Amino acid sequence: MQMEKLFNSDIMALDTYIMVKIKEKTALLKDKLTAKNRAPIALSMGAPTCPPSDILIDKLKEYLTEDNIHTYSVTKGEKYFRDAICYRMKERFGVNLDPDKEVCSILGSKEGLANLIRFICTPNEDDKEKDIILIPDPGYASYSQMIKCSGGYAYPVPLTKENNYQPDMELLLTKLQSDGFDPKKIKALIINYPSNPLGVTADIEYVKSVVEFCKKHQILLMSDAAYCDLYYDESQKPFSVFEISGAKDIAVEFYSLSKTYALTGWRLGWICGNSEVVSRFAKGKSSIDNGIFKALQKACAFLMTDKSGNDFIDKSNAAYKKKQSIIVKGLKELGWVIDDEQLPKTTFYLWLPVPPRYNGDDFKFCEELLEKSGIVMVPGSAFGKSGNGFFRISYVCSDEKLQEVVDRMKSDGFRFE
Ligand SMILES: Cc1ncc(COP(=O)(O)O)c(C=O)c1O
Repeated sequence: MQMEKLFNSDIMALDTYIMVKIKEKTALLKDKLTAKNRAPIALSMGAPTCPPSDILIDKLKEYLTEDNIHTYSVTKGEKYFRDAICYRMKERFGVNLDPDKEVCSILGSKEGLANLIRFICTPNEDDKEKDIILIPDPGYASYSQMIKCSGGYAYPVPLTKENNYQPDMELLLTKLQSDGFDPKKIKALIINYPSNPLGVTADIEYVKSVVEFCKKHQILLMSDAAYCDLYYDESQKPFSVFEISGAKDIAVEFYSLSKTYALTGWRLGWICGNSEVVSRFAKGKSSIDNGIFKALQKACAFLMTDKSGNDFIDKSNAAYKKKQSIIVKGLKELGWVIDDEQLPKTTFYLWLPVPPRYNGDDFKFCEELLEKSGIVMVPGSAFGKSGNGFFRISYVCSDEKLQEVVDRMKSDGFRFE
């Protein structure tokens, strides 16, 4: 069978997702690395490795035996789950949402983002005719892939030290035009604060200006808040876009239970905000999936409204802060210049330049780290063009393993030189 006839050219050009590729390569090298006392240590995926809350697991066990719990749910989410979401949004951000009109459950934010992108892009084979989605660069590696899968065009919005990771969107429009693209083709802008991979946040004044920009140009604002609960400093406590008055006119926000409650495998999240967008999205999804397993929704509804949920967040944030200090101390000893003032106060990521002797080749640096020392990190270029010459550390493993990473780097010669 001719695959070119079967799949469209965008899908044919698609590569396997970078994290999957890294996982596959690590698995191939595992035995060899283990034999030389360098069993792989993964600092690659943004996936907490600590166990979820005990109370949550007990609740799940209890719900598993309830009548009618194993049957289909609804795409939008059970009422108790949507009510818990609204409770959480009110408690955490002071934001009021209508559980019937402004909230829809998603099977993790990856699914929600991908489906909304699919629903708003009309596929076109000609790059200049494609619908455009503006994405942060560097940014979550899946954005550009999702857009490609949907026949859209991912136009990068560079996040740099110079623009304080808060780019001027009108300047961006001028650049887009000078690159030969039609601004009328822009369907949406994705923002992601706290940022994967940078660990930076934005000022509320900046996001206000982004909301105004989107209103002026009639662009949907898609705010990806996957890391909103991972913060170590009250002064940088992430906010919701809906704390900005009038944001519901133009925005939707994506939330995930994956990072907040260490539940990456459970696949739970929600989209909320503009009621028309949310209801169109829910209609589209109703032909695709039947929602989240009810026992998971019920257990998570409990966690989101119980004190134990907040206790879990506080405990894991304290643990990440400690992990950050272990890895930063070690990297400083290895020669990286890290300004404590500039350290991320959110997420569990560190974003650093590769040693000068690699001449900016971040893939080579990460490849050598893996093949020689069994340390798995992600090359910055995987997150977009602005990531060239950088790498991302996801400090989600145990403190002991983090120390081992530093020790291996020391003995295997991975210094910043
Ligand atoms: C910025 C960002 N958004 C969304 C996701 C997807 O998370 P999930 O699908 O587990 O909710 C991730 C995962 O790493 C991410 O980094």
